[in-house]
Amino acid sequence: MKIAVLGTGGGAREHTAKLVELGHEVFVGTRDPEATLARTEPDMMGNAPYGQWLADHPGVTLLSFGDAAAAAGEVVINGIDGHNAVAALTGIATSLSGKTLIDYAVPFVYQHEAEHPWPTPWGVMPKLDPCDTDSLGERIQRALPEAKVVKSFVTQEQSTVVNPKAVGDGDHTMFVASDHDDAKRTVTELLQSYGWTDILDLGPLVCSRGMEMYAHMHSAIGFGLGQQFGGHFGVKVVR
Ligand SMILES: NC(=O)c1ccc[n+]([C@@H]2O[C@H](COP(=O)([O-])OP(=O)(O)OC[C@H]3O[C@@H](n4cnc5c(N)ncnc54)[C@H](OP(=O)(O)O)[C@@H]3O)[C@@H](O)[C@H]2O)c1
Repeated sequence: MKIAVLGTGGGAREHTAKLVELGHEVFVGTRDPEATLARTEPDMMGNAPYGQWLADHPGVTLLSFGDAAAAAGEVVINGIDGHNAVAALTGIATSLSGKTLIDYAVPFVYQHEAEHPWPTPWGVMPKLDPCDTDSLGERIQRALPEAKVVKSFVTQEQSTVVNPKAVGDGDHTMFVASDHDDAKRTVTELLQSYGWTDILDLGPLVCSRGMEMYAHMHSAIGFGLGQQFGGHFGVKVVR
């Protein structure tokens, strides 16, 4: 398939590499391809400059967000930082029309004044905005009524999303939520091709709220396991 991955961050790189390995044609979106390739410093998460990563991953085409989305067939993955995703995606709405848009972003706000801050091994925990009564997944769907938004992948590090067998021999649960059943089926098939066997359909997109709010619990479990950041574990829904 022709698949677009919108984003050059650590999570997007995991999907890009895996999709190429699976034989897909992958178009990666970034704000400005030239500027992205000119970077020489690691990003804020410590990932190597994208040009360096790309040199080690032949077969990937780097384009603007809009051109990558337009080049995709049915499936587009959103790996744009959660705080900026709605604005960036709204600008390329036409190219996303009719497509399945898988959103794994977390609406984290990193700089904020908290009345009761949560100190972590790497600084104060970011806050979620929106939260409780709305979610990023729903905001993206409202901004792009012609796209079929599926919230998924978001409850794990993307390195274990693309390689579920890396923990517990793959015996853990992945979630999907969307108002579009056909798009959910497409995402379920993609997850199966990644190696997932336990994929729980949570129902409508409003369940993005639960998945996004789980981000804090994901961090807390990681701290408990002494992993600090980027925890390699999964959760299993036992029923
Ligand atoms: N990494 C994971 O394993 C993981 C797991 C679960 C959830 N998430 C969530 O998924 C989202 C993406 O994570 P990630 O690690 O793949 O990447 P990230 O480092 O959070 O985001 C990088 C991407 O965001 C874009 N971006 C940043 N500021 C922007 C702005 N002002 N306007 C438009 N685009 C902007 C960057 O564009 P350029 O390419 O132009 O620099 C880049 O493509 C985040 O919300 C993260 O919290 C990540």
